[in-house]
Amino acid sequence: MQEQVLEATQATGASSKPAQRLFIPGPTDVAPAVLEAQTAAMIGHRSDEFEALFAKCQEQLRRLAYTGSRVYVVASSGSGLHEAAIRNAVGGRVVCFVNGAFSQRWHDTAVGCAKDVVRVDVEWNSAVKPEQVEAALAEALRDGPVDAITVVHNETSTGVMSPVKEIAAAVRAVSPETLVMVDAVSSFGGVKIEVDEWGLDVMLTSSQKALALPPGLSFCAVSDRVLEKASKVTGRGWYFDFLNLEKALKKNTTPSTPAISLMRALSVQLDRIFVEGVDERFARHQRLAERTRQWAIEQGFALMAEEGHRSVTLTTVTNTRNISIKQLNAYLAQQNMEISNGYGVFKDKAFRIAHMGEVVDADMTRLFSAMEAFLASQS
Ligand SMILES: Cc1ncc(COP(=O)(O)O)c(C=O)c1O
Repeated sequence: MQEQVLEATQATGASSKPAQRLFIPGPTDVAPAVLEAQTAAMIGHRSDEFEALFAKCQEQLRRLAYTGSRVYVVASSGSGLHEAAIRNAVGGRVVCFVNGAFSQRWHDTAVGCAKDVVRVDVEWNSAVKPEQVEAALAEALRDGPVDAITVVHNETSTGVMSPVKEIAAAVRAVSPETLVMVDAVSSFGGVKIEVDEWGLDVMLTSSQKALALPPGLSFCAVSDRVLEKASKVTGRGWYFDFLNLEKALKKNTTPSTPAISLMRALSVQLDRIFVEGVDERFARHQRLAERTRQWAIEQGFALMAEEGHRSVTLTTVTNTRNISIKQLNAYLAQQNMEISNGYGVFKDKAFRIAHMGEVVDADMTRLFSAMEAFLASQS
């Protein structure tokens, strides 16, 4: 273990880490030590060894999420936890704020679970604001209580980051019993999210984004209030039933067979994260975001996301120079790099540069110089 941590320390330094290949908003590059951790021999999941692994990761996950409650670890992608949150926390009505493709997905999941859903549309490329939440919730409350609201912290489709701390405060001011459910799929691990302090009842995320793990695991910080609610909600299913997960978590295990290899990877990556230092990690993400925004402006592009609410983990650049993003990516591929096209309707109208997970300044320098060479070849 000590050796792995040592290797981790070295790996966070710009000079010794492999050059970043993926500047897409997930999956992101995974450090060699983390990839390697997956190749260890299997162990039984009802063993002392697995329970120790689970307990160690649980403690670190809670620290990273700034919560004293619990963080469930589930073998599914983040979308599974969209469904889990709805099935466990919503018996009656849920208000879903939609300002992009992933908040729309969470809304669609709630509809798919046959809940009573109030949809509140917020312009894409704009953040969900606490005032909008307060007004929409007050309006919804006229027709009866609201069990929960859903909001996406970092809309990966647009590169907008919504102020979830202030949103949670707004919810509490209008309807203290309404649960606050936050998707932090593309921000957790790159941005400080203080689950308990901010009063987030559900904070869910996936492994393959800013945590820089392989896809396949998802994590969910859940408050006591949610468990209390879940005990009164029917139709929770089994696999994602928080009460099942809680019972197992108390015994440092999962109800069904866990993804042991992925959990080994998780353990090594959590060590690496704490070796780097969480504040340093968050500062690195902030610095890379600012640098990317500045670069885009200097190159004559515009930024698509609303000012003051731009993502810290990815930057969405409006394609004002009308370049071919397909050709750009073909050019970058020759140097083993890749960025993302605009999402859905923004295809070719925008492109997205992710700067999350393992990315360091030297990676951005390499990407920007390749992009500048491509741009020069176009003019
Ligand atoms: C903000 C956000 N929410 C949810 C999801 C869905 O996550 P997953 O692909 O892990 O199911 C994504 C995926 O990109 C996302 O960016």
